[in-house]
Amino acid sequence: MIRSRIIGFERALPPFTVTNDDLAEIVDTSDEWISSRTGIHKRHLAVDQNTSDLCIIAADKLIKKAGWNPLSVDLIVLGTVSPDYTTPSTACLVQEALGCKNAFCFDLAAACSGFIYSLSVADKFIKAGEVKRAIVLGGETLSKITDWSDRSTCVLFGDGAGGVLLEAAEEGGILFEDIHSDGSRGMALTAGYRANKSPYYKAEPKSSEFIDMNGREVFTFATRKVPESINRVLEQSGMTMDDISYVVLHQANTRINEVIARKLKAPAEKFFSNIDKIGNTSGASVPIALAKMNEEGLLKKGDKILISGFGGGLTWATMLIEL
Ligand code: COA
Repeated sequence: MIRSRIIGFERALPPFTVTNDDLAEIVDTSDEWISSRTGIHKRHLAVDQNTSDLCIIAADKLIKKAGWNPLSVDLIVLGTVSPDYTTPSTACLVQEALGCKNAFCFDLAAACSGFIYSLSVADKFIKAGEVKRAIVLGGETLSKITDWSDRSTCVLFGDGAGGVLLEAAEEGGILFEDIHSDGSRGMALTAGYRANKSPYYKAEPKSSEFIDMNGREVFTFATRKVPESINRVLEQSGMTMDDISYVVLHQANTRINEVIARKLKAPAEKFFSNIDKIGNTSGASVPIALAKMNEEGLLKKGDKILISGFGGGLTWATMLIEL
């Protein structure tokens, strides 16, 4: 059976950072409130880069380090809810910048599950024998869809991009997955509503262009669905938490991840976290965390790692990968 081997982990963050104290100067909040409820201390925010710029940096590092000829890339999939344009897709902008002229490219919108959904889709093209090499990215500039006067959301999010390469191989890579959506609860977390500005359009806009979230509902959803999803993947694989080196959850909120770890009865040390310095970067958070772990020497060949994303849609997805 063909498998999708994972090669390389890279990330790109805008250099400018904003602390909780900095935010307290623009909205009525405090470092104490933000850090105690979310675990976030600072975040990187774009000042002159768009989503494609961050994705291009991460993708360029990936293919250069792997020594891939850009022309050998067959597919670029990019999970984002903050693309530069509706069209061209951000993946097409990455293709052009890197010279991956033979790749077909598209963006995938699954919010904070976007990177894992993208990995899943690329994996299927590889398993079908249609693709040998793929670049899979998650990238966001959430700062452009954040309401900077809303203290309940503007303190949570950050900008960044990360990704991996996938290559057809005989073993390793993506082993098992569990992927879900529940559109009936989609209004719990909305962003990017586009009002119809046609002179003929009569209805009132339904929503805001900015991120709007029922924080409690998302908290309850994540802490119920993610442990179930992780347990399903463990069952499919016949493994237990003892076989897993690390669990990398979407970095939304330290408290969510602590509750998930407790429900799984898994040691907290297995749950990598970098939310304190990065904030919630939606579809970029899992690949950014993986790249940071790689930089710290935490990822070893043969390790089995669980990755799990959850958020807007509502969507959630867990994957068991072998390095
Ligand atoms: N600073 C200070 N006070 C704030 C604040 C801020 N940044 N944001 C909200 N508050 C206030 C609210 O106005 C409210 O005040 P009130 O009681 O006087 O009305 C109070 O804090 C409680 O607000 P609430 O929204 O009920 O807080 P909470 O305890 O639910 O915590 C979250 C809010 C967002 C931290 C929490 O719901 C959460 O972690 N949700 C998950 C969200 C998430 O991670 N989403 C992304 C998933 S992809």
